[in-house]
Amino acid sequence: FLKRRKSWSRYPPGPTSLPFIGTMLQIDFHNPHLSFTQLSKKYGNVFSLQNCWSNLIVVNGFKAVREALVQKSEDFADRPYFSIYEHLGYGKNAEGVVVARYGQAWKEQRRFALSTLRNFGMGKRSLEQRVTEEAGFLCSAICSEKGRPFDPHFLINNAVSNVICSLVYSERFDYDNKKFQRLLHLVEQALNEEAGFLPQLLVVVPWLLLIPGVPQRVFRSQKEVLDFTNELVKEHRTTWNPTEKRDFTDAFLQEIEKAKEHAGSSFNDNNLLLVTVDLFIAGTETTSTTLRWALLYMLLHPDIQCKVHEEIDKVIGRDRSPQMEDQANMPYTNAVIHEIQRYGDIAPVGLPHMTYRDTELQGFFIPKGTTVITNLSSVLKDETVWEKPHQFYPEHFLDAAGQFVKREAFLPFSAGRRVCLGEQLARMELFLFFTSLLQHFTFRLPEGQARPREVARFATTRSPHPYQIQAVPR
Ligand code: HEM
Repeated sequence: FLKRRKSWSRYPPGPTSLPFIGTMLQIDFHNPHLSFTQLSKKYGNVFSLQNCWSNLIVVNGFKAVREALVQKSEDFADRPYFSIYEHLGYGKNAEGVVVARYGQAWKEQRRFALSTLRNFGMGKRSLEQRVTEEAGFLCSAICSEKGRPFDPHFLINNAVSNVICSLVYSERFDYDNKKFQRLLHLVEQALNEEAGFLPQLLVVVPWLLLIPGVPQRVFRSQKEVLDFTNELVKEHRTTWNPTEKRDFTDAFLQEIEKAKEHAGSSFNDNNLLLVTVDLFIAGTETTSTTLRWALLYMLLHPDIQCKVHEEIDKVIGRDRSPQMEDQANMPYTNAVIHEIQRYGDIAPVGLPHMTYRDTELQGFFIPKGTTVITNLSSVLKDETVWEKPHQFYPEHFLDAAGQFVKREAFLPFSAGRRVCLGEQLARMELFLFFTSLLQHFTFRLPEGQARPREVARFATTRSPHPYQIQAVPR
């Protein structure tokens, strides 16, 4: 008892907690990373908060985040339990991957997802061709805008989403497919539904969800996204031939068959839906948001765009499509893409972690079962690491000779056991889509249009406000 009391005396400091709501009023839930960075100035890089009665630790800056995610990876590998997802069908042995607790079901699904995506081409030439083909469709669609101002948002979303849909469902959707466009809008709304004060309150006071109509009202789009993807899976089943593996869904269906004798397997119908939805949402929103920041930064920095054009012309030329092999010969473009990810900072607070056992961080005691927020934004903009943390500066990733340099604090995909499962796919997509777009077009701000805002909207991801663009064929 005394030992435990001594440990608790080393619990991280934090603002004073009020009855019932704890420290929730200290956080702007529409910009949590900014509130966290502000609070870290007062309480240090590891500080505590309380959402109602639920304890929370926020970890800031490269050193502390690296210690948690890399050096003590397993201690921080769990996820908090979200009962708000129960109405969507989450439960025992059906937790998908993204919010799954650290344990057997998560390990099984993560291993399966990684190996299956690799079998279907992640990190290989076959997938490279699929991405290049999709980039070609995207360029044609942009070309048909004939240099008129347009908002690239849903074209990019659709193109990126088609890559993950090909892997998971063997399907791609034309850019004028109204039903698919509706799904993409729903995905955005679903992410919006998780941001703000009310959803956070429901996470810690789940009995509020028992009030009739509350889950349906607050999380309406999430339910619709699941219903929609359920249709895709059902259609898939009607054409399924157990001797053939067309895609991720087929591979999962085979595992369900194999697991029929084992009670308690995470390969079941419910989890098929949840895992594929995870891949679909995580694989669409993040990469397409990064590409939207990419075009916006090219509008705002025509000099940098010009240098990327020069490198593309020198290394790839205008007559063939970009390939992953080109990346090694394109240090400037590679640095620009890394800087887009650093400065764009699209997952500023990553996903919540939870301590799997009692542990220590930067000398503080953190008990098992504590929710841990890794403020990735504070790493990507850590003032002790980056020369110009609050400016778009591709030179962060270049040495004096203009060669590409890796930076340890580049953690947009997080790190450790729960590191982004799609990192390799995302990197391939970012390089091939970005270079294809810049090979074909010069992107300009339409005449008379105000300079687009660099401030972001936050809804799980940090994304740009809508903007118009003019694509002039090169
Ligand atoms: C998790 C970032 C693309 C699938 C994550 C996490 C981050 C992240 C920060 C949280 C890691 C943590 O908990 O510490 C990104 C970024 C992307 C991207 C910046 C693109 C630029 C993708 C793609 C896929 C994907 C294309 C699809 C295959 C996942 C999954 C997880 C995850 C399934 C959960 C992993 C787990 O809990 O074990 N991602 N991601 N991501 N990402 Fe990505």
